[in-house]
Amino acid sequence: MASIKRCYSIEDLRQVAKKRLPHGIFEYIDRGTEDGVALSGNRAAFERLRLNTRFMVDLRDRDMGTEILGKRIELPIGIAPTAVAGLMWYQGEYALAKAAADAGIPFTLATGSLTPMEKIAEAGGRLWFQLYMWEEKELSYELVRRAKSLGFETLVVTIDSALGRLREHNEKNGFTFPFKPNARALVDMTLNPGWLTRVLFKTIIKSGMPKNANYPEHYQPMVTLRGTPKPKANKGMTWEDVARLKEMWDGPMLVKSVMTPVDARMAVQHGADGVVVSNHGGRAVDSALATIEALPGVVDEVGSETTVILDSGIRRGSDIVKALALGADMVLLGRATLYGIAAGGQPGADKAIQILSTELEKTMASTGCRRPSEITQDVIATPPF
Ligand code: FNR
Ligand code: LAC
Repeated sequence: MASIKRCYSIEDLRQVAKKRLPHGIFEYIDRGTEDGVALSGNRAAFERLRLNTRFMVDLRDRDMGTEILGKRIELPIGIAPTAVAGLMWYQGEYALAKAAADAGIPFTLATGSLTPMEKIAEAGGRLWFQLYMWEEKELSYELVRRAKSLGFETLVVTIDSALGRLREHNEKNGFTFPFKPNARALVDMTLNPGWLTRVLFKTIIKSGMPKNANYPEHYQPMVTLRGTPKPKANKGMTWEDVARLKEMWDGPMLVKSVMTPVDARMAVQHGADGVVVSNHGGRAVDSALATIEALPGVVDEVGSETTVILDSGIRRGSDIVKALALGADMVLLGRATLYGIAAGGQPGADKAIQILSTELEKTMASTGCRRPSEITQDVIATPPF
């Protein structure tokens, strides 16, 4: 696709995504919560850190792969769970899963995704499943068992969303879920016939109105229908639930949205094989620390005994170097690959991964690192915070 060919950065893909999506849907993915402080804070914190260059290292023998949860991945990168990727592109979650499989990196399917997990399993590769736990725990357990039987290898339990979060722009734009379109949303979609045909009509023709395809049957119409029952988030979730999930899952489990040493310790004590230091891409708590600021404390607490992954704000390969330098084992991409599929389906996601991988490789080379394990705190020039 011509427009993707002309993209040289994640920001370029973002600009194409902006043109190709209805305004309200673009804002749904692009913006944060409340005043956008955490969103811009993630970027500002990465930008404050500078790197020590180190040249004249023999770079002929390089390897970007690393081992995560006992298996090799080809880059220290994975794809984060993002519900409604199916509104970026027809079966957008499948496009993301294929892009990840082709790149040899893991893909995480969100509980709220619009593509059935059976279809995602066809993409192959390393599949992780993200869980938002419902009040009716048995329904969540069924979902977890279904993921397990389909070969999803890692369970990712997100812990930051018991009471939801405030995003005024979605209300104003008429893009909340369940979808209650206001006049603005209808005009917005009509003004974007490309998206209507490429994404919405194609979805309707092939599989009916967009729905949370992995929810229990009677909850499925929620994306588009007002008044349909919606599974309630589990407001009473505690670490005991995490321990119970680990028992059931019988495989690697990560706890996502750990921002403090205390939560990191609790996660490990309750069976987590790793933690994801995440502020949900600045979408959950507007006064949250940037994840790169929260990372050192978490690494000090649990880094020597467990896997530490970072997400939120990764837009350049140098961000990945900074995260690994401060102790992360790998990073996850949320919006970077979403912009990619919005810009052009799987080739767009391939492009996002390729851009970041090239930037990562060149930044590693300039800091004298030939493999992820060589990226240590020494590459950070400024004292970290
Ligand atoms: C998300 N994220 C997310 N996380 C999660 O655990 N479950 C989910 O369903 C979603 N849904 C979701 C939708 C959209 C549109 C976005 C942008 C993000 C958060 C995601 O997994 C990840 O933490 C952030 O996206 C990382 O930040 P960046 O890379 O987007 O800056
Ligand atoms: C979001 C939810 C789905 O960030 O996690 O939009």
